[in-house]
Amino acid sequence: MATAWALHRCSSLAYQRAAFASTVISGRTQGITVSSPSGVGGFRAWKSIRLARNYCYSPTSTDTAFVVANDDKYGKKQIISLTPRLYDYILSNVREPEILRQLREETATFRGSQMQVSPDQAQLLALLVQIIGAQRCIEVGVYTGYSSLAVALVLPESGCLVACERDANSLDVAKRYYERAGVSHKVNVKHGMAADILSSLIMNGEASSYDFAFVDAEKRMNQEYFELLLQLVRVGGVIVIDNVLWHGKVADPLVNDAKTVSIRNFNKTITEDKRVSIRIFTALFGMVGGGQVCPTAANNANIDWW
Ligand SMILES: C[S@@+](CC[C@H](N)C(=O)[O-])C[C@H]1O[C@@H](n2cnc3c(N)ncnc32)[C@H](O)[C@@H]1O
Repeated sequence: MATAWALHRCSSLAYQRAAFASTVISGRTQGITVSSPSGVGGFRAWKSIRLARNYCYSPTSTDTAFVVANDDKYGKKQIISLTPRLYDYILSNVREPEILRQLREETATFRGSQMQVSPDQAQLLALLVQIIGAQRCIEVGVYTGYSSLAVALVLPESGCLVACERDANSLDVAKRYYERAGVSHKVNVKHGMAADILSSLIMNGEASSYDFAFVDAEKRMNQEYFELLLQLVRVGGVIVIDNVLWHGKVADPLVNDAKTVSIRNFNKTITEDKRVSIRIFTALFGMVGGGQVCPTAANNANIDWW
């Protein structure tokens, strides 16, 4: 199950920080501390469930959700696990356009296919874009285009997605699918290093002109991408950053490899950064349907925050 930050850029008059919170979806299901690409989410989730602290062990079945934590501090919610069967159920309730299914299946034959976002995550990205009425978006890390195509499909005809990717071969696949989906005119493909591309957009006078950004590239660059995107995304816009729980490793003090430490540090920085309101969540489908849109941004003019 992929995990992400959703960051809402605050106006300077409204520096507020939403409480850092693990995701509570539909009032019951808590985000498993796992961040995995599509397809294998259930199994990775299961592995990380066993790492979760304070869980109530159920020896009976990997297919029955069980309580991983009794959340006494925060309203006595029972936090349940994600199991392979539950994840299958979630995926079976995703509305995945045919063209996305085809791209996902073709990509599954490629090396690195586990990198593409899962269908439920793509649906969430598209939903966020629709909710904020985004016209201008940026994606950092396109690969073969699954998440960018999901966004492009819901953008209005006049909308634009700047798609940054360093790997030309992957981009060829993405471009083929933008074409097939009839969204090429909405996607501005940028081949190169993402930080350079973002910097050039700023130099080009495009600061504060974007509504939405999705970051899914080199994890150790997240802080740099974030700072650049903070300049490019308007007040009230949304930045989503993928893989912030990094397969659950960020919560494990025994894991200290460079990538995990960098994501952990980034998360800490973001949590303390009052320029954005924040929300960490797993990419489950029911976020809005579950009533989790946080209504506390009363003095932010533009949108709800997360
Ligand atoms: C996790 S994949 C992106 C998956 C994509 N969002 C999807 O749903 O299919 C990460 C991609 O970021 C690209 N990437 C990594 N570092 C990059 C950089 N510095 N600049 C541009 N692209 C980069 C990689 O080539 C890779 O294709």
